[in-house]
Amino acid sequence: MSASAADAIGTLSRVIADFPSPGIQFVDLTPVLADADALAAVSTALVEPFAGQVDYIAGVEARGFAFAAAAAAANGLGVVLIRKAGKLPGERIAESYALEYGEATLEVHTDQVPAGSRVLLVDDVLATGGTLGAAASLIERAGWTVAGISVVLEIPALGGRAALGREVHALSTY
Ligand code: PRP
Repeated sequence: MSASAADAIGTLSRVIADFPSPGIQFVDLTPVLADADALAAVSTALVEPFAGQVDYIAGVEARGFAFAAAAAAANGLGVVLIRKAGKLPGERIAESYALEYGEATLEVHTDQVPAGSRVLLVDDVLATGGTLGAAASLIERAGWTVAGISVVLEIPALGGRAALGREVHALSTY
């Protein structure tokens, strides 16, 4: 892990109480995106452990898009968008996962990346792991391989790493 990326996240992120609902401590990473040096450090650190092992970076809607695109641009890679249901117009597959109340669905285009591509999955936050679990399934069902999973922030108390059952590279924890 890059010390400067972790330091920048720790210094710039802020906790907003009772957002979006009472009892939730929301970690706001928008100040990390707004700081050019922090964004550069994070973009490098997200990909660093996987150097030479990645063909594309996939980002999860919506906050994951910003970090995935920045990381991709910093490393000379293209981006795959993993979107919430109903947003992608082309050939696509869908994967649903459970939320506390109800379920959510993610989708990905299947016709933009060659079979066998190594895809690094990037998101802003790992909480319960439902989102990244569904995203990883989409990557594999599309015929690509998960080169790794990188997140800006992990919330270990929510058990996402164990639920995922996959290696996760987290730049910081809360
Ligand atoms: C947030 C966050 C992660 C996900 C993590 O996304 O950006 O993608 O939750 O939670 P999990 O590990 O419990 O699945 P959200 O669905 O709130 O969407 P947003 O990025 O559009 O705000």
